[in-house]
This record gives sequence, C-alpha cells and structure tokens, in this order.
Amino acid sequence: MSEHQLQGRSLPNGRGEIIVVADAEALAREAADRFVRITTAAVRERGSAAVALSGGSTPGRMGHLLAADYRQVVPWDRLEIFWGDERTVPESDPESNAGVARRTFLDQVGIPVRQVHTYAMEGIEPELAAIAYGARIRTIIGPAAPDAGWPRFDLILLGMGDDGHTASLFPGTAALGEQEALVVANQVPKLGTVRLTFTAPLINQARDILFLIGGAAKASILRDVLEGPEQPNELPSQMIRPTVGRLTWLVDEAAAAALEG
Ligand code: 6PG
Repeated sequence: MSEHQLQGRSLPNGRGEIIVVADAEALAREAADRFVRITTAAVRERGSAAVALSGGSTPGRMGHLLAADYRQVVPWDRLEIFWGDERTVPESDPESNAGVARRTFLDQVGIPVRQVHTYAMEGIEPELAAIAYGARIRTIIGPAAPDAGWPRFDLILLGMGDDGHTASLFPGTAALGEQEALVVANQVPKLGTVRLTFTAPLINQARDILFLIGGAAKASILRDVLEGPEQPNELPSQMIRPTVGRLTWLVDEAAAAALEG
C-alpha cells in the first residue's frame, strides 16, 4: 500500500474529483489503496465498514491485489460486503457479479460468510428479491425504518459502461426515476433481461463513491458524462452526485484521453 494519496482535479458542477493514472495496473493499485484507506478509517471510526462492490471486468485486478499484496491490511473481519447490482442468474454463472468476486478474491481472504451479502434470488421474483435485499441493507447498516432516512455505505465501487450506465442503471430504464426504494428490479430491454440494482438515491448517500474506469473504449463516453450537457436519462452516470460524501473518478490515461479539462 503506498503511503501517498494521489491528488486529483476537482470537476465542475458537483461531480467530485478525477484522478488519472497511467494504466490498468496503476488503476487497480490505486483502487486497492483507497479500498484499504476507506475501510480502515470506517472501522476505526464506526467499528465496521459497509462496502458495495461493482460488477464488470475493471475491478478484477483490484480484487486480485486485495487477496494478495493487500490481504493483510484490509480489516476483512469488520467488513460487510454487498453488490451495487446483480444479474438474475445463479452464483455459479460466469455472469454473476457475486460469483465472479468470490472466485476472484472474496473466497481467499477469510471474510466471515455471514458478512458477504449476496442477492437471494433463486426461485424468487426479481421484484421481491430487490425488496428483500433493500431490507437486508437496512438490517445490516441501518437506518432501520424508511422514514428514518437512507442507509449510508462507507464505500460504493462503480464502473461505467460505454453507454454511460452505472450499476444497472441503464439509459432510458425505469430504475432511473426511482426515488423511494433502495434496490429495484430493472427491465433492461437492450440486454433482454432484468437486473437488480441500487437506485441513484441510495448510491448518492454513500460516504465514498469510487468510479473505476479504464481503456480507450470509455474515452468518448467519459467526456460526454463529465464535460457534456446534463442528460441523465441518456447518461445515467451523471445521476451520481453524493449528498454529503466524496465522489472520485479513478481513470486511466486511455479513458481520459478525450477530456478537455
Ligand atoms: C455490471 C456492472 C456494470 C459495470 C459496467 C462497466 O454488473 O456489469 O455493475 O455497471 O460496472 O458495465 O463494466 P467494465 O468494468 O467491464 O467496463
């Protein structure tokens, strides 16, 4: 874990801070550094750390580092692990975000099984699975009652698709308008499937939101999201604006190549 923390550049209109690193390896290492810093501070201040992992391929290398070089410095026994979205497939399926994370690093780090919170969805309607997962979030990290406010994650990791989606908040889908529920089942016509996803209000309650974005294929969409006009229905990643927390866009040079700022 490196001692220094890279300083980024502030973005306009409440979009947080962007940090550009050289390449995929630097992205993974900086992400692992921040994962350790944020979870260690949360455990020190509150006794535990609630983390929501993302799916996609970008976090894979970070996961390997957390299970190897960083394994001894993560307070695994005080973490509560969730996922910001999930596909409606069994965990054994290569598409399963939880399955990929378990196989990549979670099964190697000795985190107590009861602290890994996967979406229970086998044989359950996606809508009910979403409600149940939201209830689990409230039970584990509170607040208990909806009228008492929103649960606050210590860290939510996000990726961004080349269509500007994040979690499973896809352009033009119903989940974008959800302002009450923590988690919803979202019909995604372009994929021909239903995805379970955190809603933007839940994500925006987090103390730390960390986007991990790498590769040249993301360059133009990242410019549109960060420097283009506000169009959250077309670019759902623009909906991510923390209410009180910190938003960091951790990006490699290839993905940052089209940015003007
Ligand atoms: C998912 C993710 C999704 C992902 C982006 C970026 O379940 O697929 O949560 O939002 O983060 O699609 O994926 P890559 O990191 O593979 O580009």
